Amino acid sequence: MEGETPPIQPSPAPETASSSEESEQEDENDHVMSEIHLGCPPKISGSFVSHFTFSLPPDVEYIEGKYEYEGFDDSKLRQEVSLDDDGDLALPRRKKPLKDTFDVAIQHNITSSIPKVGLQVWRAELVLCDFVLHKMYTSSEFNGIVAVELGAGTGLVGMLLARVAKSVYLTDHGIDILENCASNVHLNSALLPSKTSVYVRELDWKASWPPTQDNCASCESFAWSRSEFEELKKASLLVAADVIYSDDLTDALFHTLERLMSNGLKKVLYLALEKRYNFSINDLNVVANGYSRFRSYVRDEIDDAENNELQNGSASAFVGTRIDLTEIPHYAVNYNRGHDLELWKIKYMKEGKSSIV
Ligand SMILES: C[S@@+](CC[C@H](N)C(=O)[O-])C[C@H]1O[C@@H](n2cnc3c(N)ncnc32)[C@H](O)[C@@H]1O
Repeated sequence: MEGETPPIQPSPAPETASSSEESEQEDENDHVMSEIHLGCPPKISGSFVSHFTFSLPPDVEYIEGKYEYEGFDDSKLRQEVSLDDDGDLALPRRKKPLKDTFDVAIQHNITSSIPKVGLQVWRAELVLCDFVLHKMYTSSEFNGIVAVELGAGTGLVGMLLARVAKSVYLTDHGIDILENCASNVHLNSALLPSKTSVYVRELDWKASWPPTQDNCASCESFAWSRSEFEELKKASLLVAADVIYSDDLTDALFHTLERLMSNGLKKVLYLALEKRYNFSINDLNVVANGYSRFRSYVRDEIDDAENNELQNGSASAFVGTRIDLTEIPHYAVNYNRGHDLELWKIKYMKEGKSSIV
Protein backbone atom coordinates (compact mmCIF):
# COMPACT_ATOMS: atom_id res chain seq x y z
CA MET A 1 0.00 0.00 0.00
CA GLU A 2 2.37 2.63 -1.31
CA GLY A 3 2.78 5.33 1.34
CA GLU A 4 -0.79 5.09 2.54
CA THR A 5 -2.39 5.14 5.94
CA PRO A 6 -2.90 1.53 7.00
CA PRO A 7 -6.52 0.54 6.36
CA ILE A 8 -6.96 -0.86 9.81
CA GLN A 9 -6.08 -0.15 13.39
CA PRO A 10 -4.54 -3.32 14.75
CA SER A 11 -4.48 -4.30 18.38
CA PRO A 12 -3.27 -7.54 19.95
CA ALA A 13 -5.95 -10.18 20.13
CA PRO A 14 -7.22 -11.24 23.51
CA GLU A 15 -5.80 -14.57 24.76
CA THR A 16 -6.84 -16.40 21.61
CA ALA A 17 -3.59 -17.30 19.90
CA SER A 18 -4.13 -19.69 17.02
CA SER A 19 -4.14 -23.35 18.00
CA SER A 20 -1.61 -23.92 15.23
CA GLU A 21 0.76 -21.20 16.38
CA GLU A 22 3.63 -23.60 16.89
CA SER A 23 3.41 -25.24 13.51
CA GLU A 24 2.93 -21.79 11.93
CA GLN A 25 6.22 -20.66 13.47
CA GLU A 26 8.01 -23.70 12.17
CA ASP A 27 7.52 -22.84 8.52
CA GLU A 28 7.67 -19.07 8.83
CA ASN A 29 10.00 -18.88 5.83
CA ASP A 30 7.17 -20.04 3.58
CA HIS A 31 4.78 -17.44 4.92
CA VAL A 32 2.87 -14.99 2.75
CA MET A 33 1.39 -11.66 3.83
CA SER A 34 -1.64 -9.80 2.52
CA GLU A 35 -1.04 -6.15 1.60
CA ILE A 36 -4.01 -5.33 3.76
CA HIS A 37 -1.91 -6.11 6.84
CA LEU A 38 1.00 -3.86 5.91
CA GLY A 39 0.13 -1.43 8.72
CA CYS A 40 0.28 -4.16 11.36
CA PRO A 41 3.34 -4.57 13.58
CA PRO A 42 5.84 -6.95 11.94
CA LYS A 43 7.11 -10.19 13.46
CA ILE A 44 3.87 -11.07 15.19
CA SER A 45 2.79 -14.63 14.80
CA GLY A 46 -0.63 -15.77 15.90
CA SER A 47 -3.86 -13.83 16.05
CA PHE A 48 -4.46 -10.13 15.95
CA VAL A 49 -7.64 -8.08 16.09
CA SER A 50 -7.97 -5.21 13.58
CA HIS A 51 -10.85 -2.79 13.21
CA PHE A 52 -12.05 -2.27 9.65
CA THR A 53 -13.94 0.97 9.23
CA PHE A 54 -16.73 1.25 6.66
CA SER A 55 -18.04 4.66 5.83
CA LEU A 56 -20.73 5.99 3.53
CA PRO A 57 -18.90 7.63 0.59
CA PRO A 58 -19.76 11.27 -0.23
CA ASP A 59 -21.50 10.33 -3.50
CA VAL A 60 -24.01 8.13 -1.69
CA GLU A 61 -26.58 10.35 -0.01
CA TYR A 62 -29.63 9.76 2.11
CA ILE A 63 -32.45 11.65 0.42
CA GLU A 64 -36.16 11.41 1.16
CA GLY A 65 -35.92 8.20 3.15
CA LYS A 66 -33.58 6.28 0.86
CA TYR A 67 -29.94 6.15 -0.19
CA GLU A 68 -29.06 7.46 -3.61
CA TYR A 69 -25.85 7.18 -5.55
CA GLU A 70 -24.91 10.28 -7.47
CA GLY A 71 -21.86 8.90 -9.28
CA PHE A 72 -22.26 8.87 -13.06
CA ASP A 73 -25.81 10.18 -12.73
CA ASP A 74 -26.11 13.29 -14.84
CA SER A 75 -29.90 13.39 -14.52
CA LYS A 76 -29.55 15.88 -11.66
CA LEU A 77 -27.74 18.25 -14.01
CA ARG A 78 -30.67 18.05 -16.38
CA GLN A 79 -33.28 18.60 -13.66
CA GLU A 80 -35.03 21.90 -13.84
CA VAL A 81 -34.53 24.06 -10.77
CA SER A 82 -37.81 24.24 -8.89
CA LEU A 83 -38.89 27.07 -6.63
CA ASP A 84 -41.24 26.87 -3.67
CA ASP A 85 -44.26 29.14 -3.05
CA ASP A 86 -42.03 31.88 -1.63
CA GLY A 87 -39.77 31.77 -4.69
CA ASP A 88 -36.93 30.02 -2.79
CA LEU A 89 -34.94 27.17 -4.28
CA ALA A 90 -36.69 23.87 -3.39
CA LEU A 91 -34.10 21.32 -2.24
CA PRO A 92 -34.93 17.69 -1.39
CA ARG A 93 -35.63 17.33 2.31
CA ARG A 94 -33.23 14.96 4.12
CA LYS A 95 -34.31 12.71 6.91
CA LYS A 96 -31.86 11.37 9.44
CA PRO A 97 -29.69 8.71 7.77
CA LEU A 98 -28.81 5.36 9.25
CA LYS A 99 -25.42 5.05 10.87
CA ASP A 100 -22.97 6.15 8.18
CA THR A 101 -19.79 4.76 9.71
CA PHE A 102 -19.23 1.52 11.54
CA ASP A 103 -16.35 -0.76 12.51
CA VAL A 104 -16.02 -4.51 12.10
CA ALA A 105 -13.51 -6.22 14.40
CA ILE A 106 -11.61 -8.96 12.60
CA GLN A 107 -9.34 -11.49 14.24
CA HIS A 108 -6.70 -12.51 11.73
CA ASN A 109 -3.08 -13.50 11.33
CA ILE A 110 -0.62 -11.03 9.85
CA THR A 111 1.23 -13.69 7.86
CA SER A 112 0.42 -17.34 7.22
CA SER A 113 1.47 -20.41 5.30
CA ILE A 114 -0.34 -20.91 1.97
CA PRO A 115 -2.76 -23.55 3.35
CA LYS A 116 -3.79 -21.05 6.05
CA VAL A 117 -4.27 -17.95 3.87
CA GLY A 118 -7.85 -17.90 5.12
CA LEU A 119 -6.52 -16.55 8.43
CA GLN A 120 -5.74 -13.26 6.66
CA VAL A 121 -7.89 -10.62 4.96
CA TRP A 122 -7.17 -10.12 1.25
CA ARG A 123 -7.77 -7.11 -0.96
CA ALA A 124 -10.46 -8.80 -3.05
CA GLU A 125 -12.50 -9.28 0.13
CA LEU A 126 -12.56 -5.50 0.63
CA VAL A 127 -13.69 -4.90 -2.96
CA LEU A 128 -16.47 -7.41 -2.41
CA CYS A 129 -17.36 -5.58 0.84
CA ASP A 130 -17.62 -2.32 -1.14
CA PHE A 131 -19.85 -3.98 -3.71
CA VAL A 132 -22.10 -5.70 -1.16
CA LEU A 133 -22.48 -2.52 0.92
CA HIS A 134 -23.26 -0.51 -2.21
CA LYS A 135 -26.05 -2.93 -3.09
CA MET A 136 -27.28 -2.91 0.50
CA TYR A 137 -27.40 0.88 0.71
CA THR A 138 -28.87 1.57 -2.72
CA SER A 139 -31.26 -1.38 -3.23
CA SER A 140 -33.26 -3.95 -1.32
CA GLU A 141 -31.91 -6.85 -3.44
CA PHE A 142 -30.20 -8.61 -0.52
CA ASN A 143 -32.95 -8.06 2.04
CA GLY A 144 -34.28 -11.28 3.56
CA ILE A 145 -32.22 -13.60 1.32
CA VAL A 146 -30.23 -16.75 2.03
CA ALA A 147 -26.56 -16.10 1.15
CA VAL A 148 -23.43 -18.24 1.10
CA GLU A 149 -19.82 -17.04 1.22
CA LEU A 150 -17.34 -19.59 -0.20
CA GLY A 151 -13.71 -19.54 0.94
CA ALA A 152 -14.89 -16.98 3.51
CA GLY A 153 -11.63 -16.88 5.48
CA THR A 154 -12.24 -14.34 8.24
CA GLY A 155 -15.90 -13.94 7.15
CA LEU A 156 -15.94 -10.17 6.63
CA VAL A 157 -18.21 -10.00 3.55
CA GLY A 158 -20.66 -12.55 4.94
CA MET A 159 -20.98 -10.62 8.19
CA LEU A 160 -21.85 -7.45 6.27
CA LEU A 161 -24.52 -9.37 4.35
CA ALA A 162 -25.91 -10.65 7.65
CA ARG A 163 -27.04 -7.10 8.43
CA VAL A 164 -29.88 -7.47 5.89
CA ALA A 165 -30.12 -11.17 4.92
CA LYS A 166 -32.28 -13.85 6.52
CA SER A 167 -29.53 -16.48 6.75
CA VAL A 168 -25.84 -16.35 5.92
CA TYR A 169 -23.54 -19.35 5.62
CA LEU A 170 -19.83 -18.54 6.02
CA THR A 171 -18.06 -21.53 4.53
CA ASP A 172 -14.43 -22.60 4.33
CA HIS A 173 -12.37 -25.66 5.21
CA GLY A 174 -10.02 -26.67 8.02
CA ILE A 175 -10.50 -26.30 11.73
CA ASP A 176 -8.20 -23.27 12.28
CA ILE A 177 -9.91 -21.17 9.65
CA LEU A 178 -13.42 -22.17 10.70
CA GLU A 179 -12.68 -21.49 14.37
CA ASN A 180 -11.18 -18.11 13.56
CA CYS A 181 -14.21 -17.24 11.43
CA ALA A 182 -16.55 -18.27 14.26
CA SER A 183 -14.56 -16.02 16.65
CA ASN A 184 -15.18 -13.12 14.29
CA VAL A 185 -18.92 -13.76 14.27
CA HIS A 186 -18.78 -13.75 18.06
CA LEU A 187 -16.67 -10.56 18.17
CA ASN A 188 -19.23 -8.74 16.01
CA SER A 189 -22.41 -10.12 17.53
CA ALA A 190 -23.53 -6.58 18.46
CA LEU A 191 -23.45 -5.59 14.76
CA LEU A 192 -25.50 -8.56 13.58
CA PRO A 193 -29.29 -8.39 13.85
CA SER A 194 -30.64 -11.10 16.15
CA LYS A 195 -33.20 -12.14 13.50
CA THR A 196 -30.43 -13.14 11.07
CA SER A 197 -29.03 -16.66 11.34
CA VAL A 198 -25.28 -16.76 10.78
CA TYR A 199 -23.66 -20.17 10.38
CA VAL A 200 -19.99 -21.06 10.03
CA ARG A 201 -19.89 -24.32 8.10
CA GLU A 202 -17.28 -26.51 6.48
CA LEU A 203 -17.61 -26.63 2.71
CA ASP A 204 -14.46 -28.17 1.28
CA TRP A 205 -14.54 -27.98 -2.52
CA LYS A 206 -12.32 -31.05 -2.75
CA ALA A 207 -14.37 -33.25 -0.44
CA SER A 208 -17.28 -35.55 -1.21
CA TRP A 209 -20.79 -34.21 -1.74
CA PRO A 210 -23.01 -33.62 0.13
CA PRO A 211 -20.66 -32.27 2.81
CA THR A 212 -20.58 -34.56 5.81
CA GLN A 213 -18.85 -34.45 9.13
CA ASP A 214 -16.47 -37.17 7.94
CA ASN A 215 -14.73 -34.54 5.81
CA CYS A 216 -13.15 -33.10 8.96
CA ALA A 217 -13.22 -35.17 12.12
CA SER A 218 -12.51 -32.19 14.39
CA CYS A 219 -15.01 -29.92 12.62
CA GLU A 220 -18.04 -31.29 14.46
CA SER A 221 -19.35 -27.86 15.39
CA PHE A 222 -19.06 -26.75 11.75
CA ALA A 223 -20.98 -29.68 10.26
CA TRP A 224 -24.23 -29.17 8.32
CA SER A 225 -27.54 -30.28 9.70
CA ARG A 226 -30.05 -31.70 7.23
CA SER A 227 -32.25 -28.58 7.46
CA GLU A 228 -29.30 -26.26 6.88
CA PHE A 229 -28.26 -28.26 3.85
CA GLU A 230 -31.86 -28.04 2.60
CA GLU A 231 -31.76 -24.25 3.10
CA LEU A 232 -28.84 -24.08 0.65
CA LYS A 233 -31.38 -24.78 -2.09
CA LYS A 234 -33.11 -21.52 -1.15
CA ALA A 235 -29.92 -19.49 -1.38
CA SER A 236 -30.10 -16.84 -4.10
CA LEU A 237 -26.69 -15.25 -3.54
CA LEU A 238 -23.19 -16.71 -3.50
CA VAL A 239 -20.13 -14.55 -2.84
CA ALA A 240 -16.43 -15.40 -2.95
CA ALA A 241 -13.25 -13.33 -2.77
CA ASP A 242 -9.70 -14.24 -3.72
CA VAL A 243 -10.38 -17.90 -4.35
CA ILE A 244 -8.72 -18.03 -7.80
CA TYR A 245 -5.02 -18.74 -7.39
CA SER A 246 -4.32 -22.26 -8.59
CA ASP A 247 -5.70 -24.48 -11.33
CA ASP A 248 -6.66 -27.43 -9.14
CA LEU A 249 -8.49 -25.21 -6.62
CA THR A 250 -10.28 -23.42 -9.46
CA ASP A 251 -11.43 -26.81 -10.84
CA ALA A 252 -12.65 -27.89 -7.39
CA LEU A 253 -14.40 -24.55 -6.79
CA PHE A 254 -16.31 -24.69 -10.10
CA HIS A 255 -17.30 -28.28 -9.42
CA THR A 256 -18.81 -27.13 -6.12
CA LEU A 257 -20.42 -24.12 -7.78
CA GLU A 258 -22.08 -26.37 -10.32
CA ARG A 259 -23.50 -28.50 -7.53
CA LEU A 260 -24.80 -25.45 -5.67
CA MET A 261 -26.05 -23.43 -8.62
CA SER A 262 -27.77 -26.25 -10.49
CA ASN A 263 -29.94 -26.98 -7.48
CA GLY A 264 -32.94 -25.12 -6.06
CA LEU A 265 -33.53 -21.39 -6.41
CA LYS A 266 -31.72 -19.52 -9.19
CA LYS A 267 -28.45 -18.20 -7.78
CA VAL A 268 -26.07 -15.45 -8.73
CA LEU A 269 -22.41 -15.49 -7.78
CA TYR A 270 -20.35 -12.35 -7.22
CA LEU A 271 -16.70 -13.29 -7.36
CA ALA A 272 -13.85 -10.86 -6.65
CA LEU A 273 -10.35 -11.90 -7.65
CA GLU A 274 -6.85 -10.53 -7.74
CA LYS A 275 -4.62 -11.40 -10.66
CA ARG A 276 -1.19 -12.26 -9.26
CA TYR A 277 1.55 -12.62 -11.83
CA ASN A 278 4.38 -15.15 -11.49
CA PHE A 279 7.01 -16.47 -13.84
CA SER A 280 5.99 -19.91 -15.06
CA ILE A 281 8.67 -22.40 -16.11
CA ASN A 282 6.07 -24.30 -18.15
CA ASP A 283 4.99 -21.22 -20.09
CA LEU A 284 8.40 -19.52 -19.97
CA ASN A 285 6.40 -16.39 -19.35
CA VAL A 286 4.77 -14.32 -16.63
CA VAL A 287 1.26 -15.68 -16.01
CA ALA A 288 -1.59 -15.00 -13.59
CA ASN A 289 -1.99 -18.34 -11.80
CA GLY A 290 -5.48 -19.72 -12.03
CA TYR A 291 -6.88 -16.80 -14.05
CA SER A 292 -6.92 -18.44 -17.47
CA ARG A 293 -8.41 -21.57 -15.88
CA PHE A 294 -11.10 -19.36 -14.32
CA ARG A 295 -11.82 -17.81 -17.73
CA SER A 296 -12.11 -21.27 -19.29
CA TYR A 297 -15.11 -21.86 -17.00
CA VAL A 298 -16.82 -18.52 -17.47
CA ARG A 299 -18.29 -17.47 -20.79
CA ASP A 300 -18.24 -13.70 -21.11
CA GLU A 301 -21.80 -12.60 -21.80
CA ILE A 302 -20.68 -9.97 -24.25
CA ASP A 303 -17.93 -11.99 -25.96
CA ASP A 304 -18.37 -14.27 -28.92
CA ALA A 305 -19.43 -17.64 -27.40
CA GLU A 306 -17.21 -19.44 -29.90
CA ASN A 307 -14.08 -18.11 -28.21
CA ASN A 308 -15.21 -19.19 -24.78
CA GLU A 309 -15.65 -22.91 -24.99
CA LEU A 310 -14.43 -25.38 -22.40
CA GLN A 311 -11.50 -27.54 -23.38
CA ASN A 312 -13.81 -30.53 -23.87
CA GLY A 313 -15.61 -28.60 -26.57
CA SER A 314 -18.92 -27.95 -24.78
CA ALA A 315 -20.00 -24.38 -24.06
CA SER A 316 -19.62 -23.44 -20.42
CA ALA A 317 -22.75 -23.27 -18.29
CA PHE A 318 -21.30 -20.33 -16.35
CA VAL A 319 -22.00 -16.98 -17.94
CA GLY A 320 -20.33 -13.92 -16.50
CA THR A 321 -20.16 -10.16 -16.76
CA ARG A 322 -17.26 -8.16 -15.43
CA ILE A 323 -18.41 -5.32 -13.20
CA ASP A 324 -16.79 -1.94 -13.73
CA LEU A 325 -15.12 -1.23 -10.39
CA THR A 326 -14.95 2.49 -11.07
CA GLU A 327 -18.72 2.50 -10.57
CA ILE A 328 -18.45 1.03 -7.08
CA PRO A 329 -17.61 3.68 -4.48
CA HIS A 330 -15.19 2.94 -1.65
CA TYR A 331 -16.99 2.08 1.59
CA ALA A 332 -13.98 0.32 3.19
CA VAL A 333 -11.74 3.10 4.43
CA ASN A 334 -8.09 3.53 3.38
CA TYR A 335 -7.22 0.70 1.07
CA ASN A 336 -5.83 0.81 -2.41
CA ARG A 337 -7.64 -1.29 -5.04
CA GLY A 338 -4.62 -1.39 -7.34
CA HIS A 339 -5.04 -2.43 -10.98
CA ASP A 340 -5.32 -6.21 -10.78
CA LEU A 341 -8.65 -6.69 -9.04
CA GLU A 342 -11.70 -7.89 -10.94
CA LEU A 343 -15.28 -8.41 -9.88
CA TRP A 344 -17.53 -10.79 -11.81
CA LYS A 345 -21.26 -11.43 -11.75
CA ILE A 346 -21.74 -15.08 -12.73
CA LYS A 347 -24.92 -16.99 -13.52
CA TYR A 348 -25.39 -20.68 -14.16
CA MET A 349 -27.41 -21.50 -17.27
CA LYS A 350 -28.60 -24.99 -16.51
CA GLU A 351 -30.86 -25.40 -19.54
CA GLY A 352 -29.75 -28.47 -21.45
CA LYS A 353 -27.19 -29.38 -18.80
CA SER A 354 -27.42 -32.47 -16.66
CA SER A 355 -27.18 -31.87 -12.94
CA ILE A 356 -24.19 -33.45 -11.20
CA VAL A 357 -25.74 -33.32 -7.73
C1 LIG B 1 -6.81 -16.08 -0.31
S1 LIG B 1 -7.93 -16.75 0.85
C2 LIG B 1 -9.30 -15.63 0.74
C3 LIG B 1 -10.03 -15.51 2.05
C4 LIG B 1 -11.07 -14.42 2.06
N1 LIG B 1 -12.10 -14.69 1.11
C5 LIG B 1 -10.42 -13.08 1.77
O1 LIG B 1 -10.38 -12.71 0.58
O2 LIG B 1 -9.96 -12.42 2.68
C6 LIG B 1 -8.57 -18.21 0.02
C7 LIG B 1 -9.64 -18.91 0.81
O3 LIG B 1 -10.04 -20.10 0.10
C8 LIG B 1 -10.15 -21.14 1.05
N2 LIG B 1 -9.96 -22.47 0.44
C9 LIG B 1 -8.84 -22.98 -0.12
N3 LIG B 1 -9.05 -24.25 -0.49
C10 LIG B 1 -10.32 -24.56 -0.18
C11 LIG B 1 -11.12 -25.73 -0.30
N4 LIG B 1 -10.64 -26.86 -0.83
N5 LIG B 1 -12.40 -25.68 0.13
C12 LIG B 1 -12.91 -24.55 0.67
N6 LIG B 1 -12.19 -23.41 0.84
C13 LIG B 1 -10.92 -23.42 0.42
C14 LIG B 1 -9.01 -20.85 2.01
O4 LIG B 1 -9.12 -21.56 3.24
C15 LIG B 1 -9.14 -19.35 2.16
O5 LIG B 1 -10.04 -18.98 3.15
